[in-house]
Amino acid sequence: MIDVMKMFKARMYMKRNEPFLYSWHAYVGYELDLFRAFDRPMSKFDVADALSLDDDLLEQWIMVGLSIGHLKEAGRGRYKIANAWKLPKPKGDNSSGVLLKEMMELHIPTLLQYPEMMREKKRSHFDEEKHAPTVAETSRLLEVLAMPKMSKKIRENHFKTVLDIGCGEAGYIKKLAERFPDTQFKGIEISPAVAEKAEEMTASIENVEIENTDLWHYQPAQPVDMVMLNNVIHYIDLEERQALFSELASWLNDGGILSVVTPIAGRVDDPPFANVFNSFFSSFDNLYRLPTREELAEWGEEAGLKMLGIRTVIKEGSWYIVQYAK
Ligand SMILES: C[S@@+](CC[C@H](N)C(=O)[O-])C[C@H]1O[C@@H](n2cnc3c(N)ncnc32)[C@H](O)[C@@H]1O
Repeated sequence: MIDVMKMFKARMYMKRNEPFLYSWHAYVGYELDLFRAFDRPMSKFDVADALSLDDDLLEQWIMVGLSIGHLKEAGRGRYKIANAWKLPKPKGDNSSGVLLKEMMELHIPTLLQYPEMMREKKRSHFDEEKHAPTVAETSRLLEVLAMPKMSKKIRENHFKTVLDIGCGEAGYIKKLAERFPDTQFKGIEISPAVAEKAEEMTASIENVEIENTDLWHYQPAQPVDMVMLNNVIHYIDLEERQALFSELASWLNDGGILSVVTPIAGRVDDPPFANVFNSFFSSFDNLYRLPTREELAEWGEEAGLKMLGIRTVIKEGSWYIVQYAK
């Protein structure tokens, strides 16, 4: 009886881990540009040669691809991608593959450190320079969903000045600036590499300015109409969050809007990913847990702002946009 249970559980663990194979395969294909290589029928030798890759490992990757339906046989020892819509697009161009990269290179290795961190009572340190470009690119995947809620406020209120704090690659302000040419946009970004990318992305747009600085060292010369804080709260120490909200509120004109995008966690009935986010952030001595709904209400109120509402951006990731008026 006991042996039967053991087998049953072992099978269940394996079965539950099967989806990992799809992600792993897609990640390797994205990272090495293999899906582009197999865009038309190719043999493993041609691809291994063209990309200077190990033949045997490439063959194994092809075998997994055939078994999970990412690749299909195309005759004469050649293979081709199948179900292309399921696969990440090549690197750059805001490909969804960057999410696989972040999961495989950052989230999973970090979560695997748990036993050691718990035993040693130690945390890792989030390597800003190494991961900032990938993280800034993954955040951009949310743009399409969150952008309309920002545009609406700018349009309805005829806002003329917008600040984006922790602007990343300037994905939001770039699109908003193209849409609202008479509004001035400014992005503040602490990472030099990411700020440089933001400058490149917006070089041809006159109504965008990027400043490479720490938000705590920044202060606008004049009050502004809207301040955005998108996916930045988990970089802020818990003790400093109220001060940040009060500071940002003080930068707003009367009638101005503070617009915040963040995952929210704190309840066990939140989607599992939201709670794993916190396990991930808590692994680092320089990243912090997500805010709760109650805290978001409290920080706004204490800063003298009126909360306009909390609206869903992506339910499964527990991602929300929270807007406040002054
Ligand atoms: C997850 S990214 C989000 C980027 C962008 N706002 C978006 O939603 O696509 C967070 C960004 O905030 C920047 N950041 C973190 N702490 C900051 C600080 N104290 N001052 C300015 N930028 C900061 C990080 O370097 C990173 O690029």
